[in-house]
Amino acid sequence: MSEYILAIDQGTTSTRAILFTHAGQPAFISQQEFPQHFPHDGWVEHNPDDLWQTTVSVCHDVIAQAGISAEKITAVGITNQRETTLVWDKNTGKPVYNAIVWQDRRTADLCVRLRAEGLTDKVRQKTGLLVDPYFSGTKVHWILNEVEGVRQRAENGELLFGTVDSYLIWKLTDGKVHATDATNAARTMLFNIHTQQWDEELLDILGIPVAMLPEVKDCAADYGQTSAEFLGSPLPIAGVAGDQQAALFGQACFQPGMCKSTYGTGCFMIMNSGDTPLLSHNQLLTTVGYRLGGKVTYALEGSIFMAGATMQWLRDGIKLIEHAADSERLAAQCRVDQSVYLVPAFTGLGAPHWDPKARGAIVGMTRDTGIADIVAAGLQSVGYQTRDLLEAMKSDGVKTLTTLRVDGGMVINDWAMQFLADILQLPVERPQVTETTALGAAMLAALQLGLYDSLEQLQQHWQCEKTFNATLDDETVERLYSGWQKALSGIKQIS
Ligand code: G3P
Repeated sequence: MSEYILAIDQGTTSTRAILFTHAGQPAFISQQEFPQHFPHDGWVEHNPDDLWQTTVSVCHDVIAQAGISAEKITAVGITNQRETTLVWDKNTGKPVYNAIVWQDRRTADLCVRLRAEGLTDKVRQKTGLLVDPYFSGTKVHWILNEVEGVRQRAENGELLFGTVDSYLIWKLTDGKVHATDATNAARTMLFNIHTQQWDEELLDILGIPVAMLPEVKDCAADYGQTSAEFLGSPLPIAGVAGDQQAALFGQACFQPGMCKSTYGTGCFMIMNSGDTPLLSHNQLLTTVGYRLGGKVTYALEGSIFMAGATMQWLRDGIKLIEHAADSERLAAQCRVDQSVYLVPAFTGLGAPHWDPKARGAIVGMTRDTGIADIVAAGLQSVGYQTRDLLEAMKSDGVKTLTTLRVDGGMVINDWAMQFLADILQLPVERPQVTETTALGAAMLAALQLGLYDSLEQLQQHWQCEKTFNATLDDETVERLYSGWQKALSGIKQIS
């Protein structure tokens, strides 16, 4: 009987477990959604117990589906929603507050204050990030300052901080290991990506005791063993990476200049920049792509908040479609150069605009405009936003981009992928295995276990299922993109 690697993918709306064969093929999958909590406008929380219980449940389910015992699992890899922040008691394991999710904007005013105090450059130089509520640092500050009694307990050394990977590792090892990996650490706004150390000055500014922080390890490393109670026998946790970086790894973007874009709820475009941390002048983020054997591979990242979520809004919000899949059929009825633009700035705009106050709009409608045009405009907004990221990367001096590898739920939509290739004027490559996030975590664990010797060996497993080549003429592309820019400037004026 074959042996597997168990990948745990703890995401924003669901937790998944996938058993991969050693050759990187997904064999069994289990997925479970959990509730989202919105206690106030702009606040987003998860119950830590939901994150843990869904993890336990999907892991048990996937093993039951495979009809195997835990001994058939060689190792565990973990990947996770990044930035989401937890603080828990190191003796009881009890979280002191809900997990504050990456989308949560409660620390927006604090960020405005920090920026006014001149912190922007310092944070950018040290962490590669912007001063924004998106990252963990100001969320930890909020928990320490706003939850009664917590600051004192933290100063007494009773509490631990971690992103979701760290919390799961701690739970899986029964409290024996408090660790994170360099990609997750890089999203906290507390980690110096050049020295690969927690930054004492930033910790001091945010009033976070260093004793709360996890040890930062390579992405392929020894993260301890799962407790015997978890699956029946202990398993090595050997690979960890934040979900977008795990997708970069799963897409085998191992050479500088290679780039992937993941289309889930939002879209995260990440380019491998090799051993050079490219500091963006266009509001992109500099981050850790992966760290292996102590060697850091850096990445340039652009994050946009609404991709698949725009389809959700068309389906559940204004109910123009019944299923997300309907969008492809409807869009195919429209001319690709139709004049309607949907700007999905429902929660503001991410990179490269970073405008939390921007709001959505549909512009360019005529008496003929119908449901199909608006749905097509929704799909096209994903392409236009990706083009914004590409333009920002080009302005930052990136010249090497020759293709874009795509993954995530939306990439099954051929119409959207063709438009993406057209508007980017780049070939768009869809891989055979689109479970690239979980695959990345599994392959990191496989590397640690010595199932692969090198990235070159891993690279051989990446297979393209379909390439979408640009077919639209330059003039049409530029006319369409210039229309998008006009639509964008319109909503900026409103906000
Ligand atoms: O930075 C947030 C990102 O890691 C969340 O990804 O796939 O859980 O929405 P996802």
